[in-house]
Amino acid sequence: MTEQKPVTEATASPVKVPTLPDAQTVTEVKHYTDRLFSFRCTRPASLRFRSGEFVMIGLMGDPDPKTGKQKPLLRAYSIASPSWDEELEFYSIKVPDGPLTSRLQHIKAGDQIILRPKPVGTLVHDALIPGKRIWFFATGTGFAPFASLLREPQTYEDYDEVIITHTCREAGELTYGAGIIESLKTDELLNEVIGEGFWKKIKYYPTTTREESPKMGRITDLMRSGEAFEDLGVTPICPQNDRAMICGNLAFNLELKEMLEEYGLEEGANSKPAQYVVEKAFLD
Ligand code: A2P
Repeated sequence: MTEQKPVTEATASPVKVPTLPDAQTVTEVKHYTDRLFSFRCTRPASLRFRSGEFVMIGLMGDPDPKTGKQKPLLRAYSIASPSWDEELEFYSIKVPDGPLTSRLQHIKAGDQIILRPKPVGTLVHDALIPGKRIWFFATGTGFAPFASLLREPQTYEDYDEVIITHTCREAGELTYGAGIIESLKTDELLNEVIGEGFWKKIKYYPTTTREESPKMGRITDLMRSGEAFEDLGVTPICPQNDRAMICGNLAFNLELKEMLEEYGLEEGANSKPAQYVVEKAFLD
């Protein structure tokens, strides 16, 4: 990664309109449920990242009542768009009293957000050793890095099969992910670059836990019972064939990590690639 030049915080006086440091312009916003939305924004020309990484994004905070100074309010967000996309996409939860998302959920096309151009993260192909199948395990907004990796040609060059599981509370929370996967079928650019019908390598396994849907239950329970493997028509996970990336809430990450270790997989990192990697879905 190239070293980025240090960013100076804006020092606005109460009378001046603050100039956002690292400002990017929102180009599109889509709302899925009262808890979830996605948006796209311009991409800084200098920003290079690997599909699956995250950056800090946010808005300028309210002025300090005493000094009138404003500080950026930033949170880690996985980049949901692939590394080749000329724009950036993000997928976010809306927390009613969350310091950032209570405001971020109201952004519109044309608004500005702050984006620190320093991508990092472990959900990258570089952190895994070669294998036959890759599993992407997500809950909730943890789908975001996989929205990037599912649109990344390397995913299909490196693996024969791509299995994506997504567990959410309610069916509406699956909409964003299902839409991304569906869009791959008609994406002319990807079908041309990766190969016609590349998306047939994908096995998608969405489940819900608190609302009726075609498949109910936590993925962890469905794997333990063997039901998930049976439904998918695949053999259980083994260290020879399988590689995995996990991104969800903390309890999910820990439970799945333990299960993968029981299957014999070892955790990898950028500095020491191995068989699976984990990243927390960041909440406000
Ligand atoms: P559940 O409804 O049974 O808690 P959240 O919105 O709270 O982040 O949860 C997203 C999804 O992750 C929910 O469907 C939730 O199921 C599921 N989940 C939470 N903890 C775990 C866990 N330890 N293992 C598997 N799934 C989990």
